[in-house]
This record gives sequence, structure tokens and C-alpha cells, in this order.
Amino acid sequence: MAVPMILRCVLCGKEYDPDQVIYTCPSCGLDGTLDVLYDYDQDKKKLSREYFSKLQQRSLWRYSSILPVKDEKNIPCLEVGWTPLYDSPKLASKYGVRSVYVKDDGRNPTGSLKDRASAVGVAKALDFNQRIVACASTGNAASSLSGFSACAGLRSYIFVPEKAPAAKVTQLLVYGAQVILVKGDYEDAFNLATAAIDKWGWYNRNCAINPYLVEGKKTCALEIGEQLNWDVPDRIFVSVGDGCIISSVYKAFFDLIQLGLVDRIPRITGVQAEGASPIYNAVKSGTEGVTFTSADTIADSICVGAPRNWAKALRAVRKSGGDMITVSDQEILEAMPELARETGVFGEPAGVTGFAGFKKMALHGDIRPDERIAFIVTGNGLKDIVSAQKAVGSPILVDPDMEDLTCKLGEIN
Ligand SMILES: Cc1ncc(COP(=O)(O)O)c(C=O)c1O
Ligand SMILES: [Zn+2]
Repeated sequence: MAVPMILRCVLCGKEYDPDQVIYTCPSCGLDGTLDVLYDYDQDKKKLSREYFSKLQQRSLWRYSSILPVKDEKNIPCLEVGWTPLYDSPKLASKYGVRSVYVKDDGRNPTGSLKDRASAVGVAKALDFNQRIVACASTGNAASSLSGFSACAGLRSYIFVPEKAPAAKVTQLLVYGAQVILVKGDYEDAFNLATAAIDKWGWYNRNCAINPYLVEGKKTCALEIGEQLNWDVPDRIFVSVGDGCIISSVYKAFFDLIQLGLVDRIPRITGVQAEGASPIYNAVKSGTEGVTFTSADTIADSICVGAPRNWAKALRAVRKSGGDMITVSDQEILEAMPELARETGVFGEPAGVTGFAGFKKMALHGDIRPDERIAFIVTGNGLKDIVSAQKAVGSPILVDPDMEDLTCKLGEIN
């Protein structure tokens, strides 16, 4: 399955041999993230709509011809991808649009979209004969890397901010990762992880640094394209922290266009929390770069003031004719039970932020009634029940007898 590919810097356009440079562009430094580009003319001959319609593989590896893994035997065993895309006529009629599609990526093995990146990251570590992997993460990339490392027999060093939700930290420990809780925020964890990776030579799974991880993430949007029979939605809403997921949505539709499977890119709309919105600020002020800010939001996964993949994120919004929007913590909290009650999908705060952004835009009348909308629920609600508890009331407590039950139910109804 040796896939021919090149790496191209998003800022200066210089190209690199994938066997030569593993991370960012040497001329542009950390900001020069690299795109992975394939031999699309060759792939086009095989990857037709008919080819996909006959494919049995129900995981992200159905797209292995446009994934960067060299050796099939390095693919980890955990099942990942091919998550459901629900059509929600209820949400469509509630918000006055033609269709609403909900991509439930909390269904992945460790509970978030990050599993797509970790599956590819672990396979790449093995491609490069590396046995120790490391990353900094707000939590989900961490749990996911530890799960995939466990299944592939790799050692992992994971740096997370001290405030990461207990469920995510517990997941790491259960999978046997070496967990380093950093007294500080995500940026502190990122900087310490980068220094440690430099010092000890571990394989770097940081998504904004390692070009192969966005390739894993892009499979979510490839699936959306395929699950809609290649009939591209008008707009896709996605929550934004470091900017990797939003970049991956753009890359997915870029690849699909090269392959002739779709003819346009949906308007990609990124949603940030009001307290952590550097990419929103850059889009609204029309700047070339991004000014790093402080970060404070209940949505821990997108509590990022220094987004590392800013260049690709800005490109995703601008080239797709998309937009950025912010939502308050209150709007995020309200979105959690609403989404669960309307669709049955329970997302963590950052998981429902795309939905919260869609709601806000629709209620402002910024979406046309004939538009078909998709949003990605990027992480499972059980990842952070403390936040979920803030969004819902308490259950009724009854004595174990019918009299008390009848009385208490009577009080409610
Ligand atoms: C559940 C969830 N949603 C959204 C994001 C934001 O993704 P990105 O940092 O790629 O912008 C993350 C990242 O940690 C996440 O875990
Ligand atoms: Zn460059």
C-alpha cells in the first residue's frame, strides 16, 4: 500500500519528500505546517463512486489510497471511523433550513474524532520505526493516543493541562500512558511536550506539527461526502481549538475535488467559544496571521489561545467561502441537552459547539431556508459529566414506595 505522496508547506509552498522531513517546513518553522498531497491522477482511475459503493470496509481505512500509511501491517487493530451521519428533519424544521445532518464522532473507540488522527499517527510511528510516541493535548487527543498506543504496543508520554476533565485523565491512566499533568494551560503543556520530544526523540503526535494527523481527521468529512452520496452539503459547522479539525474538513473536500468525486467545497464555518477565539478574531479582522490570546471556556477541548494550525484553519474558512462565529459558555451548555433531546446524540461541550454555532447563525437569519447543513459532534458527552450536570436539573429522589412516587410525580406534573 505504499502511497506516493509529497509534503507541501502551507505558507511558502516548498515541497518535501515525506521520507526526509517529518514535521513542519524548515524555512517557515512551526507555522509552516505541511499538506500531504497524493498522486491524484493515478488515484482517480481507481477511486470512482462505483468503487466506493462496492467497498465492504466499514472504517476509515476504506480511504487508505489517500491516507499516508506505508505499511498495512502497521495499521492498529482498534476499529475507527464510519460513524453514523443522522438526518434530523426535527432540527431542520425547528431552525428553518432544508436539512440538518449530525455526524456522531463521539462513537469512535475512545470517544472522540481524535481517534481518526491517532490511528494514522500510530501507524506512521511504526512506519518510521519509532516505539515511543508523545503529544500535548487538551484531553481527547491524549486519551485517543494512549488507546491506540496500547493496542499497537507502543509507549506513550502524554502532556495535559492540570484542569483536563477527570474522565479524560482517567482514560489515559487506564490505557497505561505515562501521564504528565502540567501546572498551567494547554499552551504550557504544548511547549513542555515540544521540548521533551526534542530532547528524547519521541514520535510527535501533536496534530498541528505532524502533517499526517490531519490526514486521519479528514476521513470524517470524507465520510460525510460519501454518506450523502457525494452530494455536498452547503455548510459544515465544526468547533475550533488548535484548528486541525477544521483544516481537515477542507483537506477532505480538496482531495474529493481532485478525485472528481465532488464538485465543490461546502462553506466551512468554524465555531469558537467567546473566551477562546483567536481564529474568529483573525477572520473577522482580515489579518494574515493570528494573534494569540488568553483562553477561558467550559469547553475544555477548545480552550486554546495559541492555535498551532492557524494557517490551515484560516485557509479552510477563506477558501471555502465559510465563516467563523463565537458562542458563549451558556449557549454551549444549552446546546448539550437540546442536541441530546432532539437527536439522541450526547456530545461533550466542544462536541456540541458546532451545533451551538449553527443554532446561533440560523436564529440570526444568516442561513438560507434552502440550505443543507451538517455539523460534527466531535466528542462524547460522557467525557465531561461535570459540565453536562451544569446543563441539566437533578433527578427526583423517592422512597421505594408508590405513595411517595405518586406524590413526587404529582408535584412535577
Ligand atoms: C471534542 C473536540 N472538539 C473539538 C476540538 C477542536 O479541534 P482542533 O483542536 O483540531 O481545532 C477538539 C480538540 O481537542 C476536541 O477534542
Ligand atoms: Zn514554508
